[in-house]
Amino acid sequence: MIKSHVGSVVLGLLLAILLMSEKAIAEGDSEAGAKFFKSLKCAACHGKDGKGQGPAAKAMKIKTTDWTDKAAMEMVKDDFLKDIITKGGKAVNKSKRMPGYSKKLKPADVVDLVAYVRSFSK
Ligand code: HEC
Repeated sequence: MIKSHVGSVVLGLLLAILLMSEKAIAEGDSEAGAKFFKSLKCAACHGKDGKGQGPAAKAMKIKTTDWTDKAAMEMVKDDFLKDIITKGGKAVNKSKRMPGYSKKLKPADVVDLVAYVRSFSK
């Protein structure tokens, strides 16, 4: 009886830790993401306001998604956003104009950027 009780407490603790770390990973830090957005000059194409009207966007035929468009952003999963930032457009059958940043960003940085991208439609 006591043994199984201890077991469930341990299990509960493990679950809590798992959920907490899951949450931290899933949410990311949009302020940290904003710093990468600036230092990596994402705004050249995506625009400071995330609407895709950056100076370099004018020369591109392909339009980026308006990050302030809630309905459009709800259609895309975090995994897609992570993938395209990490691997670039070509790897996910999108425009090769979108560079991959796997050499410049750690996986956790990408999660922060996704949080920042999402913050435009909040
Ligand atoms: C040289 C221009 C360019 C730069 C710089 C750039 N992107 Fe993109 N990005 C694109 C294009 C073009 C697409 C659209 C690809 C498509 O839909 O085929 C895109 C797509 C995306 C998407 C998928 C949603 C969308 O907008 O269509 C995300 C998220 C994204 N970029 C994030 C970033 C981040 C974060 C950075 C900086 C680290 C960045 N991009 C830098 C051109 C760029």
